[in-house]
Amino acid sequence: MRRIPVAGPWITDKEIQYVTDAVTNAWYANANMYHERFERAFAEYVGAKFAIALPTCTSALHLSLLGMGIKEGDEVIVPDATWIATSAPISYVGATPVFADIDPQSWCLSAESFEACITPRTKAVIPVDLYGGMPDMDAIRALAQRHNIFIIEDAAEALGAEYKGRRAGSFGDTGVFSFHGSKTVTTGEGGMLVTDREDLYRRIQVLRDHGRQPGDRMFWNTEVAYKYKMSSMQAALGLAQLERIEELIQRKREQFAWYQTELAGVDGLTLNKEPHDVRNTYWMVTLVMDQKYGLNKTQLMEGLGKQGIDTRPFFHPLSSIPAYEDSEQAHLARQRNKVVYGLSPYAINLPSALRLTREDIKNVCDCLKDILRHGEN
Ligand SMILES: Cc1ncc(COP(=O)(O)O)c(C=O)c1O
Repeated sequence: MRRIPVAGPWITDKEIQYVTDAVTNAWYANANMYHERFERAFAEYVGAKFAIALPTCTSALHLSLLGMGIKEGDEVIVPDATWIATSAPISYVGATPVFADIDPQSWCLSAESFEACITPRTKAVIPVDLYGGMPDMDAIRALAQRHNIFIIEDAAEALGAEYKGRRAGSFGDTGVFSFHGSKTVTTGEGGMLVTDREDLYRRIQVLRDHGRQPGDRMFWNTEVAYKYKMSSMQAALGLAQLERIEELIQRKREQFAWYQTELAGVDGLTLNKEPHDVRNTYWMVTLVMDQKYGLNKTQLMEGLGKQGIDTRPFFHPLSSIPAYEDSEQAHLARQRNKVVYGLSPYAINLPSALRLTREDIKNVCDCLKDILRHGEN
């Protein structure tokens, strides 16, 4: 039986041509030709002054924190519902992650909870544009400005999303993106950091290349730093995908509309929201089930899995997973974060691979409706 995948890219001849050209020609004096084109096109698309291509989004988060000088004793606020890549780099620099609750509509960082988590030690906040949606950026930015807190916008899942006409990734001191194989634009593995701040751009260029100044030919390291670079084959793939970005986003939006149509009229289901001032790019179509169905996310995933349909759980609260559960901050978060704890056990990501057809999505929805009617078996 063919399984319906939860995520996956849309690769065309254009991508194959660009990568073939890179592997053939992007060497010697041309070694950076695709990086330069990809970074320039990306910065322009997002609406930022500078972009730096990196091996992952995790490294972009790490470099953002390093560039801002965040260190042991500092606190950084993250939403409790996100992938651990948002918070792990906070520990890499010796600082402490603080887990704030999410907003019940956007599922992104709640501005109210962010405010409640601020202490004199808070140095940065990392709002996450979850599943292609956007948080209340005006409120988050106003709070960050008032308390002198850096913003690192984690737009890993939201390339092309918009808030009040402005693109995801352009709201912070830095914005970070992922091109992991599951993402709307992929380079296999890869990431990008964008910023308008020339000081951060210059500092991060040194930090990501073993403490060398850009253009250094004497292998002269001014400090011990990191090696975070993307290959030219990946940059070529990323450029080809970026040149197709509107087509890729349109497909995502179309798939979401198919789900909406198929599930219309089923009581007690909530899908991703798109408020009037947001353009959601629906990286993952996400379903929250009413508790009246008597099913949790594990049971729903198992039921769909038996029908050949792959899904993912809505992010478990970071404060609930073994990596953090014993920390003092996780203990506080478990008492405070009512929204994420009320929602996460009953929510899953539905298949959102770019190559899924209308028929695939109808099949997923038919199975889903059947399970909701009759229970898991
Ligand atoms: C919200 C979020 N942040 C960060 C990352 C990390 O991205 P990468 O795997 O490219 O390091 C991901 C990737 O899955 C993500 O979903």
